[in-house]
Amino acid sequence: MRRLALPDDIRDVFSIYSHEQVVPFLTYEPMSFEDFEGVYAELLASGSFFVWQVDGEIAGFYRSTRYPGRVRHVALLGTLAVDPRRHGQGVGRAMVADAIERLRADGIRRIELYAESDNTQALRFYRQLGFVHEGTLRDFYKRADQAHYVDEYVMGLLLA
Ligand SMILES: CC(C)(COP(=O)(O)OP(=O)(O)OC[C@H]1O[C@@H](n2cnc3c(N)ncnc32)[C@H](O)[C@@H]1OP(=O)(O)O)[C@@H](O)C(=O)NCCC(=O)NCCS
Repeated sequence: MRRLALPDDIRDVFSIYSHEQVVPFLTYEPMSFEDFEGVYAELLASGSFFVWQVDGEIAGFYRSTRYPGRVRHVALLGTLAVDPRRHGQGVGRAMVADAIERLRADGIRRIELYAESDNTQALRFYRQLGFVHEGTLRDFYKRADQAHYVDEYVMGLLLA
Protein backbone atom coordinates (compact mmCIF):
# COMPACT_ATOMS: atom_id res chain seq x y z
CA MET A 1 0.00 0.00 0.00
CA ARG A 2 1.26 3.46 -0.93
CA ARG A 3 1.00 6.55 1.23
CA LEU A 4 2.83 9.83 1.63
CA ALA A 5 5.65 9.61 4.17
CA LEU A 6 5.03 11.09 7.61
CA PRO A 7 7.44 12.60 10.15
CA ASP A 8 7.16 9.50 12.36
CA ASP A 9 8.41 7.25 9.54
CA ILE A 10 11.92 8.66 9.84
CA ARG A 11 13.44 5.76 11.83
CA ASP A 12 12.11 3.10 9.44
CA VAL A 13 13.20 5.09 6.40
CA PHE A 14 16.63 5.77 7.93
CA SER A 15 17.22 2.10 8.67
CA ILE A 16 16.54 1.16 5.02
CA TYR A 17 18.34 4.22 3.60
CA SER A 18 21.51 3.60 5.58
CA HIS A 19 21.66 -0.18 5.03
CA GLU A 20 24.94 -1.32 3.47
CA GLN A 21 23.09 -2.82 0.49
CA VAL A 22 21.17 0.39 -0.17
CA VAL A 23 23.30 3.41 0.72
CA PRO A 24 25.91 2.83 -2.05
CA PHE A 25 23.15 3.56 -4.58
CA LEU A 26 21.53 6.66 -3.09
CA THR A 27 22.72 10.26 -3.26
CA TYR A 28 24.38 10.71 0.10
CA GLU A 29 27.29 9.09 1.88
CA PRO A 30 26.39 7.16 5.07
CA MET A 31 25.45 9.66 7.79
CA SER A 32 24.30 9.85 11.39
CA PHE A 33 20.61 9.85 12.30
CA GLU A 34 20.96 13.51 13.33
CA ASP A 35 22.29 14.48 9.90
CA PHE A 36 19.59 12.41 8.23
CA GLU A 37 16.92 14.53 9.93
CA GLY A 38 17.76 17.39 7.54
CA VAL A 39 17.65 15.13 4.50
CA TYR A 40 14.34 13.68 5.66
CA ALA A 41 12.85 17.14 6.25
CA GLU A 42 13.58 18.00 2.61
CA LEU A 43 12.01 14.76 1.40
CA LEU A 44 8.86 15.50 3.42
CA ALA A 45 8.77 19.12 2.27
CA SER A 46 8.79 17.96 -1.36
CA GLY A 47 5.27 16.59 -0.82
CA SER A 48 6.18 13.74 -3.16
CA PHE A 49 8.05 11.25 -0.99
CA PHE A 50 6.07 8.04 -0.63
CA VAL A 51 6.43 4.93 1.49
CA TRP A 52 5.26 1.49 0.42
CA GLN A 53 3.82 -0.70 3.17
CA VAL A 54 3.63 -4.48 3.28
CA ASP A 55 1.82 -6.12 6.22
CA GLY A 56 1.68 -2.73 7.95
CA GLU A 57 5.47 -2.21 7.80
CA ILE A 58 7.48 0.16 5.63
CA ALA A 59 8.98 -2.08 2.95
CA GLY A 60 10.21 0.60 0.55
CA PHE A 61 10.10 4.23 -0.52
CA TYR A 62 10.58 6.57 -3.46
CA ARG A 63 10.21 10.16 -4.48
CA SER A 64 8.53 11.24 -7.71
CA THR A 65 9.06 14.80 -8.87
CA ARG A 66 7.06 16.39 -11.65
CA TYR A 67 8.86 18.93 -13.83
CA PRO A 68 7.22 22.32 -14.50
CA GLY A 69 5.98 24.08 -17.63
CA ARG A 70 6.67 22.44 -20.97
CA VAL A 71 8.15 19.43 -19.21
CA ARG A 72 5.16 18.89 -16.94
CA HIS A 73 4.35 15.58 -18.62
CA VAL A 74 7.65 14.22 -17.21
CA ALA A 75 8.23 12.76 -13.74
CA LEU A 76 11.60 11.92 -12.17
CA LEU A 77 11.84 8.93 -9.84
CA GLY A 78 14.55 9.02 -7.19
CA THR A 79 15.48 8.11 -3.62
CA LEU A 80 14.05 4.66 -4.31
CA ALA A 81 14.80 1.56 -2.26
CA VAL A 82 13.32 -1.60 -0.79
CA ASP A 83 14.11 -3.01 2.65
CA PRO A 84 16.96 -5.50 1.99
CA ARG A 85 15.16 -8.11 4.14
CA ARG A 86 12.52 -8.10 1.42
CA HIS A 87 14.70 -7.90 -1.70
CA GLY A 88 13.84 -10.30 -4.49
CA GLN A 89 10.24 -10.80 -3.33
CA GLY A 90 8.55 -8.57 -5.88
CA VAL A 91 8.13 -5.65 -3.46
CA GLY A 92 10.01 -3.19 -5.68
CA ARG A 93 8.14 -4.31 -8.76
CA ALA A 94 4.76 -3.80 -7.03
CA MET A 95 5.83 -0.40 -5.66
CA VAL A 96 7.06 0.92 -9.02
CA ALA A 97 4.11 -0.56 -10.96
CA ASP A 98 1.82 1.32 -8.58
CA ALA A 99 3.85 4.52 -9.04
CA ILE A 100 3.63 4.18 -12.82
CA GLU A 101 -0.16 3.82 -12.70
CA ARG A 102 -0.53 6.77 -10.31
CA LEU A 103 1.66 8.98 -12.52
CA ARG A 104 -0.17 7.88 -15.68
CA ALA A 105 -3.49 8.81 -14.04
CA ASP A 106 -1.97 12.23 -13.21
CA GLY A 107 -1.24 12.82 -16.91
CA ILE A 108 2.45 11.90 -16.86
CA ARG A 109 3.66 10.61 -20.22
CA ARG A 110 7.34 10.05 -19.49
CA ILE A 111 9.08 8.72 -16.38
CA GLU A 112 12.83 9.02 -16.02
CA LEU A 113 15.43 8.10 -13.44
CA TYR A 114 19.18 7.91 -12.89
CA ALA A 115 20.89 4.64 -11.98
CA GLU A 116 24.57 3.96 -11.43
CA SER A 117 26.11 1.84 -14.16
CA ASP A 118 27.44 -0.60 -11.52
CA ASN A 119 24.00 -1.17 -9.96
CA THR A 120 23.38 -4.42 -11.83
CA GLN A 121 20.38 -5.35 -9.70
CA ALA A 122 18.57 -2.05 -10.24
CA LEU A 123 19.38 -1.91 -13.96
CA ARG A 124 17.86 -5.35 -14.43
CA PHE A 125 14.92 -4.35 -12.23
CA TYR A 126 14.16 -1.20 -14.25
CA ARG A 127 14.64 -2.95 -17.60
CA GLN A 128 12.07 -5.56 -16.57
CA LEU A 129 9.65 -2.74 -15.84
CA GLY A 130 10.14 -1.37 -19.36
CA PHE A 131 12.70 1.39 -18.73
CA VAL A 132 15.22 1.92 -21.51
CA HIS A 133 18.83 3.10 -21.18
CA GLU A 134 18.71 6.45 -23.00
CA GLY A 135 22.12 7.89 -22.29
CA THR A 136 25.16 7.97 -20.06
CA LEU A 137 26.44 10.71 -17.80
CA ARG A 138 30.13 9.92 -17.66
CA ASP A 139 31.91 10.06 -14.28
CA PHE A 140 28.75 11.45 -12.69
CA TYR A 141 28.88 9.61 -9.37
CA LYS A 142 31.62 9.27 -6.74
CA ARG A 143 31.57 7.26 -3.52
CA ALA A 144 33.92 8.45 -0.79
CA ASP A 145 35.31 4.94 -0.20
CA GLN A 146 36.22 4.36 -3.85
CA ALA A 147 38.95 6.00 -5.91
CA HIS A 148 37.09 5.88 -9.21
CA TYR A 149 34.14 7.80 -10.63
CA VAL A 150 31.09 5.89 -11.81
CA ASP A 151 29.03 6.47 -14.95
CA GLU A 152 25.34 7.19 -14.49
CA TYR A 153 22.66 5.82 -16.79
CA VAL A 154 19.62 7.89 -17.66
CA MET A 155 16.67 5.53 -18.02
CA GLY A 156 13.29 6.43 -19.41
CA LEU A 157 9.85 4.93 -19.77
CA LEU A 158 7.23 6.32 -22.15
CA LEU A 159 3.64 5.75 -21.10
CA ALA A 160 1.34 5.18 -24.06
C1 LIG B 1 16.53 -2.32 -6.97
C2 LIG B 1 15.55 -2.71 -5.87
C3 LIG B 1 14.65 -1.53 -5.56
C4 LIG B 1 14.71 -3.90 -6.36
O1 LIG B 1 13.72 -4.17 -5.40
P1 LIG B 1 13.23 -5.68 -5.13
O2 LIG B 1 12.00 -5.60 -4.30
O3 LIG B 1 14.35 -6.48 -4.61
O4 LIG B 1 12.89 -6.15 -6.62
P2 LIG B 1 11.83 -7.27 -7.04
O5 LIG B 1 11.83 -8.38 -6.03
O6 LIG B 1 10.54 -6.61 -7.33
O7 LIG B 1 12.52 -7.83 -8.35
C5 LIG B 1 12.15 -7.43 -9.61
C6 LIG B 1 13.33 -7.73 -10.54
O8 LIG B 1 14.49 -7.00 -10.14
C7 LIG B 1 15.65 -7.79 -10.38
N1 LIG B 1 16.27 -8.18 -9.11
C8 LIG B 1 15.76 -8.06 -7.87
N2 LIG B 1 16.63 -8.54 -6.97
C9 LIG B 1 17.70 -8.96 -7.65
C10 LIG B 1 18.92 -9.55 -7.29
N3 LIG B 1 19.24 -9.80 -6.01
N4 LIG B 1 19.81 -9.82 -8.26
C11 LIG B 1 19.53 -9.56 -9.56
N5 LIG B 1 18.37 -9.01 -9.98
C12 LIG B 1 17.47 -8.72 -9.04
C13 LIG B 1 15.19 -9.01 -11.10
O9 LIG B 1 15.19 -8.70 -12.47
C14 LIG B 1 13.79 -9.17 -10.58
O10 LIG B 1 13.01 -9.91 -11.46
P3 LIG B 1 12.86 -11.51 -11.28
O11 LIG B 1 12.34 -11.75 -9.90
O12 LIG B 1 11.88 -11.88 -12.35
O13 LIG B 1 14.22 -12.07 -11.49
C15 LIG B 1 16.30 -3.18 -4.59
O14 LIG B 1 17.24 -4.16 -4.96
C16 LIG B 1 16.98 -2.07 -3.80
O15 LIG B 1 16.40 -1.46 -2.91
N6 LIG B 1 18.30 -1.85 -4.09
C17 LIG B 1 19.11 -0.90 -3.34
C18 LIG B 1 18.73 0.54 -3.61
C19 LIG B 1 18.76 0.85 -5.08
O16 LIG B 1 19.58 0.36 -5.84
N7 LIG B 1 17.84 1.74 -5.50
C20 LIG B 1 17.73 2.17 -6.88
C21 LIG B 1 18.40 3.47 -7.02
S1 LIG B 1 18.29 4.02 -8.72
